[in-house]
Amino acid sequence: MGNRLKGKVALVTGGAQGIGRAICERFAAEGAAIGVLDIKGDNAERAAQALRDQGAQAHAYAGDVAQRATFEAAVGDLEQRYGRFDVLVNNAIWVRYGPIDAITPEMLARMTGTGFHSVVWGIQVGAAAMARSGGGAIVNIASAASFLGIPSGMVYCGVKAAVLGLTRSASVDLGPQKIRVNAVCPGSVKTEGVAINVNPEMVAKRIARAPLGRLGEVEDIANASLFLASDESSFVTGESLLVDGGTTHALL
Ligand SMILES: NC(=O)c1ccc[n+]([C@@H]2O[C@H](COP(=O)([O-])OP(=O)(O)OC[C@H]3O[C@@H](n4cnc5c(N)ncnc54)[C@H](O)[C@@H]3O)[C@@H](O)[C@H]2O)c1
Repeated sequence: MGNRLKGKVALVTGGAQGIGRAICERFAAEGAAIGVLDIKGDNAERAAQALRDQGAQAHAYAGDVAQRATFEAAVGDLEQRYGRFDVLVNNAIWVRYGPIDAITPEMLARMTGTGFHSVVWGIQVGAAAMARSGGGAIVNIASAASFLGIPSGMVYCGVKAAVLGLTRSASVDLGPQKIRVNAVCPGSVKTEGVAINVNPEMVAKRIARAPLGRLGEVEDIANASLFLASDESSFVTGESLLVDGGTTHALL
């Protein structure tokens, strides 16, 4: 427990499970009031209830991050409750890997909707509320895939590379309003989402390639997100932080 986000109000997209849920827990433990936003409303409510059971202030929001109205509703409600809005983590994603000729219009729309459009709408709506609060911090969860060519991952790699472009440009536009925009780039992390897309053989290969000899834990990403959301990074903006155990830089 600490107070690195004491008095702050934060919204985490895809906060019902995996990395998003760990970020909610870490931020709450540091004193933030948390909005847990997820398309799976029941899961979001369960995650928010678990935070409340630990003494945190937490609220669940059900909605699709591809829609601007979802952010307007969640950010609007948090602003109304607390009179301020300070931190947004754009974390939600829907991903499927597959060969280039298997990409369908539906898959493309869903991956760009959750991974790219959502970041645009989150920044637009979140930054306006942060400006009214005197500043804030936006953390976009990108990926090691932002820098790599993952086999059968063309859309995912493209979306995650684009998130870094959004991060850099938004940091320039929003700096004068004291809003910092940064990205965290996780390597392979053990989550429900990864279990769907990555088979055990690929996991073993990834561990074998990792200089630190393990996959990431959700807490590794939550800790990096906390640094970028808190005042400890008050002179850092437009930056991306790889949290991958060294794998991306390793030539094996
Ligand atoms: N897990 C990894 O190895 C890894 C590696 C690199 C980057 N990342 C990134 O970290 C983030 C979280 O990954 P994860 O593995 O925890 O994901 P996950 O699939 O386990 O969880 C994603 C959450 O987002 C929610 N979601 C999906 N579509 C949504 C929508 N349209 N609107 C609102 N919520 C929606 C899901 O319901 C789920 O709760 C993603 O941006 C992912 O790209 C993960």
